[in-house]
Amino acid sequence: MSNLATKYLGLTLDNPIVASASPLTFRIESIRELQDAGVGAIVMRSIFEEQIREDVSSMYAALEDDMSPQALAYLNADLPMQLGPERYLDKVRNIRREVRVPLIASVNCISPDQWVPFARKIEATGVDAIELNVYDIADNPFETGAAIEERHLKLVENVLKQVNIPVSVKISPYYSSPLNFTKRLERLGVGGIVLFNRFFQPDIDIHRMTLRNTPNLSRAESIRLPMRWVAILRNIIGCNLALSGGVHAADGAIRAILAGADVVCLTSALMLHGCTDPIREIREGLCRWMEEHGYENLAEWRGLMSDKDLTDNQGFERAQYVQLLSEQQS
Ligand SMILES: Cc1cc2nc3c(=O)[nH]c(=O)nc-3n(C[C@H](O)[C@H](O)[C@H](O)COP(=O)(O)O)c2cc1C
Repeated sequence: MSNLATKYLGLTLDNPIVASASPLTFRIESIRELQDAGVGAIVMRSIFEEQIREDVSSMYAALEDDMSPQALAYLNADLPMQLGPERYLDKVRNIRREVRVPLIASVNCISPDQWVPFARKIEATGVDAIELNVYDIADNPFETGAAIEERHLKLVENVLKQVNIPVSVKISPYYSSPLNFTKRLERLGVGGIVLFNRFFQPDIDIHRMTLRNTPNLSRAESIRLPMRWVAILRNIIGCNLALSGGVHAADGAIRAILAGADVVCLTSALMLHGCTDPIREIREGLCRWMEEHGYENLAEWRGLMSDKDLTDNQGFERAQYVQLLSEQQS
């Protein structure tokens, strides 16, 4: 019988299948289904740093009429800690009570400012780790790429100072130098890097001429982008790598682990096919494949297809592209 157990963020998971952040990981019913199907870990839907701040500012506005300036000044100094969005925390506590598998909370964030102490409140709920979803649309023409990276690193550094539980960072594929950036994240002490967050892309309704907000789910082919970067990073980065994007079935999970992923994160497959079937299919498919290939545990074959030498230009780097285009032209 194959052993699918794996370590992620210092936690022991029964298997490498993680239900990544989405509405499914915020509802008790779907969380029960995920657990019954045998998911390895659950990342809760994110709270947005704007939510944390907004809660703070609306509370502040409500208090303004009733309080002395001195009391307000005191509160203002520590507002995020005192008036954070309790509803989210309550939900996390309830889910924590329900969930037996490792539970990871998630914050969707971009700035290293006053929301950061809220991380301590999240830690106090008893979650096993925090995932920071750095979901940033670079919309300031005066901020350079280097300045954006510094802001993100500062944010991670500040959160790491607040908590003792492991912290992972879910990054976008749009950094100019993912190797350099992830190396710097690792040096700060993050436990894992999630590749990649999937930016919600608004659409245009041509009849009403309005923006249309519908979720853009991945397809199985979408795995190639995160898989390339997992394969490239595997031998550069010592911390955990989680592949998020395009894992729809066992075949995708096997490729992700061959590239070097410690865990695979799923959302679209669960939204398309329900919480139970994709998880069962992936678990069974992983076991079958390992038996066929004579592997007893994941460590024996994880990263076998990772990029071992980034100087030979042969693996997941530019060479394959050059070769493909040259073949098509000849
Ligand atoms: C409807 C929906 C909601 C999501 N909500 C979150 C979220 O709250 N936080 C987050 O980090 N990622 C969120 N994601 C991204 C997923 O966690 C995941 O990284 C992404 O969808 C790629 O995986 P997939 O190809 O399996 O869908 C969401 C995705 C979808 C489709």
